[in-house]
Amino acid sequence: MLEALLSPTLLPGEQERPQRLLDAMRYAALDGGKRLRPFLVIESAALFGASGSGVLRAACALELVHCYSLVHDDLPAMDDDDLRRGKPTVHRAFDEATAILAGDGLLTYAFDVMADPATHPDAAVRCELALGLARASGLGGMAGGQMLDLAAEAAGIALSRAEIEQLQAMKTGALLRFGAEAGAIFARADAHERAALIAYGQALGAAFQIADDILDAEGDEAAMGKRVAKDAGRNKGTLVGALGIEAARKLRDELAQQAVDALAPFGARANVLVQAARFTAQRAH
Ligand code: IPE
Ligand code: IPE
Ligand code: MG
Ligand code: MG
Ligand code: MG
Repeated sequence: MLEALLSPTLLPGEQERPQRLLDAMRYAALDGGKRLRPFLVIESAALFGASGSGVLRAACALELVHCYSLVHDDLPAMDDDDLRRGKPTVHRAFDEATAILAGDGLLTYAFDVMADPATHPDAAVRCELALGLARASGLGGMAGGQMLDLAAEAAGIALSRAEIEQLQAMKTGALLRFGAEAGAIFARADAHERAALIAYGQALGAAFQIADDILDAEGDEAAMGKRVAKDAGRNKGTLVGALGIEAARKLRDELAQQAVDALAPFGARANVLVQAARFTAQRAH
């Protein structure tokens, strides 16, 4: 589906898909990544019996935003990384201007995909999906969290635990939380079911970023497909830095358990999402 969305075929209203930009967007979005966020959309929708190409499109929209966030996160002005998903980062493989534009293109395309009638027959549902994705991605979500992350790094003053938790809930948690909520929006689940999925996504998101920070401290570059051991030297606000690695591990596991507990209302139907929370905590890449 992602492959088809990023094909050279023009959509109505498009004038041309410049080859270099399309190549950079494809490079950023295809072949690689754990696909955790789209997995959450697909599995949360499956809880309510929803599946099919509309769900896949909503899942792709979220992955497009995620891929854009990685391209920009790796830019020299941000984390200045040269390896992502086992390959040179987009600005290394292409150039900086192309990487910025590829991010712009991926972000914008996400909302194109979400808003298209092919995603859901009900315009109100499409609108709610797009709104949720926007809130998770922007000023008060991922982009805002990235600002807090960079500001803390530049200030060089250690953040409090609460400040780090807030930063991480925004830069990473928001998109994962939306992934879990998206299935409930798509299937028009009731408010209780939606709240349970939000609680799951929020705890999972927090556990996920702590796991990422632990893996930066002690993970393997080849397994991760990105450079490791960079956060400490850069003064990144991480819970590994604030609490130490053992306490961070404990918190990660508690949060994963909180995520599992939030799924209680769904019983055995939620087994796959339960496994996802366990994988998130235990992952080695
Ligand atoms: C990396 O996310 C960025 C963080 C939020 C820590 P992932 O670890 O999900 O990256 P991919 O999609 O698998 O490459
Ligand atoms: C990135 O956090 C979060 C987003 C891309 C929004 P990190 O900077 O820790 O992610 P990695 O370690 O580069 O994947
Ligand atoms: Mg970063
Ligand atoms: Mg980074
Ligand atoms: Mg990291």
